[in-house]
Amino acid sequence: MPSWPEKRVQIGTRAQRVDAPAKVAGAAKYASDVQPEGWLYGMILRSKWPKAKVTRINLDKASQAPGIKAALAVREGERTVRYYGEELAAVAGTSKQACLDALRLIEVEATPLPFVVREEDAREESSPRVWDNAPNLAKPKVVEKGDVDKAFADCPTVVEGFYTTPVLLHNPLETHGNTVSWTDDGVTAWASTQVLFGVRDALANNLKVPQNQVRVICEYMGGGFGSKLSAGAESAIAARLSKAAKAPVKLMLPRFDEALAVGNRPSTFQKIELGASADGKLQALELENYGTPGIGSGGVTEGASGDVGVPAPFIYHVPNSRVKQASVAVNAGSSRPFRAPSHPPASFGMESILDELAVKLKMDPVELRLKNDPSEVRCKEYQLGAERFGWKEKYKEPGSSPGPVKTGVGCAGSTWWGGGGKGTQVEAQVNPDGSVELRCGTQDLGTGTKTVIALVGAEMLGLKPEQILVRVGDTRFPPSGGSGGSTTAASVSPAVYDACANALQELQKQTGVADARGENWVGACKKLGVNPLVVSGQFQEGLSGGGVGGVQFAEVEVDTNTGFVKVKKITCVQDCGLVVSKLTCESQANGGIIMGIGYALYEERMMDRRSGVVLNPNLETYKLPTLADIPEIDLVLFEMPEKGVIGIGEPVTIPTAAAIANAVANALGVRVNSLPITPERVLAALGKDKLSTT
Ligand code: MOS
Repeated sequence: MPSWPEKRVQIGTRAQRVDAPAKVAGAAKYASDVQPEGWLYGMILRSKWPKAKVTRINLDKASQAPGIKAALAVREGERTVRYYGEELAAVAGTSKQACLDALRLIEVEATPLPFVVREEDAREESSPRVWDNAPNLAKPKVVEKGDVDKAFADCPTVVEGFYTTPVLLHNPLETHGNTVSWTDDGVTAWASTQVLFGVRDALANNLKVPQNQVRVICEYMGGGFGSKLSAGAESAIAARLSKAAKAPVKLMLPRFDEALAVGNRPSTFQKIELGASADGKLQALELENYGTPGIGSGGVTEGASGDVGVPAPFIYHVPNSRVKQASVAVNAGSSRPFRAPSHPPASFGMESILDELAVKLKMDPVELRLKNDPSEVRCKEYQLGAERFGWKEKYKEPGSSPGPVKTGVGCAGSTWWGGGGKGTQVEAQVNPDGSVELRCGTQDLGTGTKTVIALVGAEMLGLKPEQILVRVGDTRFPPSGGSGGSTTAASVSPAVYDACANALQELQKQTGVADARGENWVGACKKLGVNPLVVSGQFQEGLSGGGVGGVQFAEVEVDTNTGFVKVKKITCVQDCGLVVSKLTCESQANGGIIMGIGYALYEERMMDRRSGVVLNPNLETYKLPTLADIPEIDLVLFEMPEKGVIGIGEPVTIPTAAAIANAVANALGVRVNSLPITPERVLAALGKDKLSTT
């Protein structure tokens, strides 16, 4: 089995991102930056009905509007639309204004149907059905272990809680979309995507074009967080417009559409009961959860579809448990994977109830976790993190901080599987002048994949990262899987290792130089003569790993007059396996924590009961953390090189909101059971505000 070099020169350094200059200079071309000759704007007409039977779409006037080169209905014939924002028709034209004008000229005949957009309404049997053949609320799927009722009866201490988390919008800075050209020679799509080959295959299938005639390119990408792990409707629509208009079509979604139609993190409503023995050992858990994936259930009648189901009892060992989970459909866009699917809500529910138990047992929350967490790694991280954070000095009895601005601390742990694989292949081209090109059909979402590839290549060949040209983001390069599940670094690194090892071997064969690395490199390459050396490498077992653990500590200030929560500090200790690129690893951790702060305090998709529309569909009204909201982040990369390369994009965002919620409860002495922890909810928890919080 291959192994990483013991002594590492490039791997693990804080090398600059290889694409930093291109990004800073504005030279990096994103999907919306490409301008193929004669390109047109594309735009989508979306349903303004949360539910309706659409009987006819008349494109005559729109087609004849000035500047319009193509107009089409997304589907032929009668259809039912099920949310405000579902795609109906599309146009391509020479300017944005021409398209906007033409959209208004499309005549849609439709019969509005009753709809429901809120979970608590939708679960009532009397509510309008989202899917005609199925009740909105599915039958719960029950998973049972041990003898739960007996265990509860035997527990001296039992706590109960009801915790809710909202629907979240991914809001990557770069919206969804693509520029697509469909000619007789095939389809080229410059797409913003987490899955090049997935988009290629979906387009081929959709457009009935062979896969070898579809090329997807995504050299730079502005984030996806899971919402770009499949080809959206905007891909095939742009392609069809391009064919009809005989010109490339740029179809990037406006921010409003991002709130409607390209995915979200489902809500959860978790009723949890937890029982423990007198010494704080967890004995019994009952969890009932429902939440909404929008229309994403597709009308299934049982269980929690669309990532609504949370892993329970999450990271803890509880011998007896009963878990019942179901999804509830509403007339809203479907959920999609969202940075660590189902884990952040699981963490919020489980870590909240655990702190309730700690309060009841009068036990230190860290102690309680050390007692019940079966992961040795996390226990070590708790000890290390508590030390750095100053937990012992900072932890006070809940509510004991003097007001009016109270301080509090909290902690939470996480897990994520990660791992690598997915048949990733890498091609290495060694040129006679010693320059190297590494090619892989993976994609860099902005996470640093190119930098990872350059560092691994440089390590293996004894070169500097800047001697290696990394090329990703094109289906003409060797295949790789989607960038989801925090698997990219762990998938590409072993394939780069293998390609470079094969290159060295081949170089030796062709030139006779026994070890071409480092200072022998240029001389050896010169001996190649005219032709460059091209070899390929495959994913290799043994060089990457998964199953990471992490812990976070939060310190907050809560103003009991205004209800305003300020996060003062986050300490994060994260198992990172073998760190390849320290800088981008740290950036992932910072980003994940910041996203967790948004989940804890600000973010929530709001639906209007009467119109069925998303009420906060832009970055002014959908609150993301900004610089002023970001605390001191003390980051400890808990390196375990023996585990191999591990992705950490998702694990780092899992426990943040739970740690913050626990810190707020510790400050106040009462708990805010719903995310986001808004000033209104804080005041309500303090009994200072009687306004409804729904
Ligand atoms: Mo992630 S939600 O697997 O992009």
